Amino acid sequence: MAGLISPVRGAASSGKSAGQGKNDPCTLVILGGAGDLSHKKLLPALYNLALEGGLPPQFAIVGFSIESLDDDGYRKFARDGIERFSRRRLTEAGWNNFAPQLHFVSGSFTEPKDYLKLKEQLDRIDQQNGSSGNHIFYFAIPPNFIEVCARNLQEAGLGMPAAAANRFTRVVVEKPIGHDLASAREINQQLARYFDENSTFRIDHYLGKETVENLMVLRFANLIFEPIWTSHYIDHVQITVAEDEGVGTRAAYYDHAGALRDMVQSHILQVLCMIAMEPPRSTAPDAVRDSKLDVIRSLRPFEPVDVERWVIRGQYQEGLIAGEKVKGYLAEEHIAPDSMTETFVALKCYIDNWRWAGVPFYLRTGKRMPKRASEIAIFFKRVPRVLYNSRPTPTLAPNVLSIRIQPDEGLSLTIISKLPGSPLRLAPVKVDFQNSTASPEAYETLLRDLIIGDQTLFMRRDTVEAAWAWIQTVLDVWSVAAVAPYPYAAGSWGPTEAAVMIGKDGRAWRIF
Ligand code: BG6
Repeated sequence: MAGLISPVRGAASSGKSAGQGKNDPCTLVILGGAGDLSHKKLLPALYNLALEGGLPPQFAIVGFSIESLDDDGYRKFARDGIERFSRRRLTEAGWNNFAPQLHFVSGSFTEPKDYLKLKEQLDRIDQQNGSSGNHIFYFAIPPNFIEVCARNLQEAGLGMPAAAANRFTRVVVEKPIGHDLASAREINQQLARYFDENSTFRIDHYLGKETVENLMVLRFANLIFEPIWTSHYIDHVQITVAEDEGVGTRAAYYDHAGALRDMVQSHILQVLCMIAMEPPRSTAPDAVRDSKLDVIRSLRPFEPVDVERWVIRGQYQEGLIAGEKVKGYLAEEHIAPDSMTETFVALKCYIDNWRWAGVPFYLRTGKRMPKRASEIAIFFKRVPRVLYNSRPTPTLAPNVLSIRIQPDEGLSLTIISKLPGSPLRLAPVKVDFQNSTASPEAYETLLRDLIIGDQTLFMRRDTVEAAWAWIQTVLDVWSVAAVAPYPYAAGSWGPTEAAVMIGKDGRAWRIF
């Protein structure tokens, strides 16, 4: 069957920055180019894009950070990252095409004169490649360096070009954008001093995941879902993002963040927006982002009493994952022995608009859960208590649409069907669709969009701040009341209090 390709994302763009051609030459500068994110994610993603012709013909990558590397040293670093983390295996032919695009400038983020070195290198590349001064600065750096890096770029003559200039400068920042509402506003304010909003790309890598992007297509390219996507037919929604990993090597960051900031404020709220948004007026970046913002602004603000009843925090203890004994959070390296940081959150919230009035959304995420599983489950209302559902027990199970973000991306719909033979017996069966093609990594999708200047899958300033504003009440209540997290054993689905919270509504968490 012929596939249909339509300009689903970024069409009729109103949010694109200058230089919207797919193949405009440009140079991507990674500040923090020799760090973990570059090694594990960015360089492997760029390599995969190169393999499939997803990079402009005139393209260069410049790593900029304190390590004393030259171009060859950086190429070795990149090759190692690609060998270990790339989706597609490294081939010599692929590598030989990719490697010459890699360069390195050794410099300190805080040292203005190092940015002059960077500028010299960029001028050289622009001249060789004819890249017309199109630059993308990827801030793969801790948030406290954002301001100084932006200022130093500007002072070195690498800031935004004048409006009439026929070239572009873009900046990319990673989450976390701040650790609360005030700090998020401050970071955004600092960025806005140097870069306009159409040139600022805030990454939430969940938006680059195939299934997450597919949510809009599922809802708005099929007729069957949208009419029933309302409180008339939907009983409740569950979003689960479970990880089997612990805090790993990120203690320094994580112990100050915790699951609410790390996962809920960003990834989970973005997924929630895709599920709950109204059809946007077009697929233009700002039309899509306006609809998402409406969802966040419609989230019912928590009262302190709601936080106590509806927001459960947990912290993992020693336990077993796949038969292996693992440490508790407090015994992890570099974690404060009396840390009260949560590694698990489960919460209930409401979206107070016409479509979702009265429908609870249950969100849950945690580290050291039994397995890695991210899913959105839409629970439909039960059929009326007549015909096949007229007996007092057992009642017919509701239809559930499960959208699997990872692993084994796909979706399944549970329906009630007749078991073959007589007497008549009914049972739930699953209609399953598994995404069989190897999906690109989220960073491949996002880097490609960044290079062509499409902001649809990037977070806008107002949305980030609205998400923080909603979360802030929870943070405030927790900090005032010094609410200790409930313990849960590693390898379990979180503290029993989370099950009790949803159980009080006569519902239960999905079992995977
Ligand atoms: C990051 C969080 O943003 O997402 C991590 O900081 C988390 O704590 C990670 O482990 C999960 O991403 P993924 O793509 O593996 O689900």
